[in-house]
Amino acid sequence: MATIVGGLTSSHIPSVGNAYAKKLFNDPYWKPFFDAYPKIHGWLDEKKPDVAVVIYNDHGLNFFLDKMPTFAIGAAPAYNNQDEGWGIPLVGTFKGHPALSWHIINSISAENFDLTTCQEMAVDHGFAVPAQLFWGNPDESPVRFIPVCINTVQHPIPTPARCYAFGQALGRALASWPGDEKIVVVGTGGLSHQLDGERAGFINKKFDLYCMDKIVNEPEELAKMTTHDLVLEAGAQGAEFILWLAMRGALQGTVTKVMENYHIPISNTGAGSMVLELA
Ligand code: DHB
Ligand code: FE
Repeated sequence: MATIVGGLTSSHIPSVGNAYAKKLFNDPYWKPFFDAYPKIHGWLDEKKPDVAVVIYNDHGLNFFLDKMPTFAIGAAPAYNNQDEGWGIPLVGTFKGHPALSWHIINSISAENFDLTTCQEMAVDHGFAVPAQLFWGNPDESPVRFIPVCINTVQHPIPTPARCYAFGQALGRALASWPGDEKIVVVGTGGLSHQLDGERAGFINKKFDLYCMDKIVNEPEELAKMTTHDLVLEAGAQGAEFILWLAMRGALQGTVTKVMENYHIPISNTGAGSMVLELA
């Protein structure tokens, strides 16, 4: 029987991809951000997951504004990282797990979620930057990946409650997988940021820390927010927090916080990372 070993979160700021490629881990500007990751590597070395289900959002690479699915799941043998315009060095190819993908798709569909299934799927910085931070070069990674893409870019986006419920259905799907894989669920993106419009540069540290606190033991409180509340508090692109909430939904029962980090680099994003372990 499959085991869910826990959940991981990480912001996916594109400039992190460039800093990673240039190995700026000890650069004074980047150090407070990168210092979180060796702790996460320690946890991963201990838990040794075989599969990572990565809940992220596409920023215009695989889907564009003309066709924007609410929930899309990859069912491909491999996923290529491509560049949607940031000039980030590409990180290679992520191995997939089509059999588990189809199990998830069937299980979640039976719970009345309507999915877009992707037998070909390119992944952008929203997926590749955190995957690289956690597992390094995908060509050498022992982990197989399942991309789960939720629309955060074109309204109407799914509500926090819907994403939390989607995560719960995902958790039940993983728990019913007969394989013996160890699975980690990842939520990427956030925390507060707004990249355009009158509030460009908006960050809400107080709200970010509130979310990082509540997501551990009271995720239902966060799921009560409307999309409007979330955009108001977190900024237009900070609405990516619904991806963290979907991750938390997939962790059935009580969790403990193994580590967390929060830092605001000049990239106009409240950058957070967490490790949650099932109690
Ligand atoms: C930026 C882009 C993102 O997709 C994100 O989640 C955070 C920051 C950026 O362009 O800086
Ligand atoms: Fe993003």
